Amino acid sequence: MKTLLIVHHTPSPSLRAMYEAVRAGAATDEIEGVEVVSRPALTASAPDVLEADGYLLGTPVNLGYLSGALKHFFDQIYYPSLDETSRRPYGAYLHGNSDAAGALRALDSITTGLRWRAVRPPLVVNGDPAKADLEACWELGATVAAELAPSDPPRPAPSRPPAPFGAPALPCSGAPVPLRRAGLKRPALTHASAPALRRAVAGGGAAGGADATVIS
Ligand SMILES: Cc1cc2nc3c(=O)[nH]c(=O)nc-3n(C[C@H](O)[C@H](O)[C@H](O)COP(=O)(O)O)c2cc1C
Repeated sequence: MKTLLIVHHTPSPSLRAMYEAVRAGAATDEIEGVEVVSRPALTASAPDVLEADGYLLGTPVNLGYLSGALKHFFDQIYYPSLDETSRRPYGAYLHGNSDAAGALRALDSITTGLRWRAVRPPLVVNGDPAKADLEACWELGATVAAELAPSDPPRPAPSRPPAPFGAPALPCSGAPVPLRRAGLKRPALTHASAPALRRAVAGGGAAGGADATVIS
């Protein structure tokens, strides 16, 4: 079982919505063999990072930089993680009101130093997250989880097809999926497509220094 660690600073409703969408994508039952662990950035520790296989990072943009909370996280884990976590995959989502350029530069500089590997460019949402923004967050979470999933996951016995968001919830393990309650349409990702997604990630993954996906 692989572990995907979400480290997030979530001080506002916009960031809460983004966090929940990212987490729902990461924990989708369409991807097997990946356990999702969440830690607030102010309490995440070096052991959390060392024990994980990949990372999702979430932060507001504050004063042209990453939040102090996420910077504190990096300050804590940087040297203990430096040799152990090289090439591990990560994704990031940022929320601002106008300009995330400084925060993106800082994130790039820190993750380049750690030699972490961006599987997607950072996702930036400015202003109130729209439905499409939350779908992009879901996809970010699912993409990083798919990157970690074993390449030949055991297929479950044929069962009901996945329910769309808004359909009555099927019993499922893991965190609740608030987006289903919100009626958000889940992007198509099936057991069959998860390996294809991994291949796409492997073939087209962004290196450190990737451009951001900015949604205004
Ligand atoms: C002290 C402070 C500094 C901020 N600096 C920036 C900034 O440099 N760039 C930006 O895009 N947004 C900036 N913001 C906006 C925050 O990113 C935004 O308030 C946060 O993501 C929470 O979103 P919300 O205000 O919509 O709830 C700042 C907010 C605060 C409180």
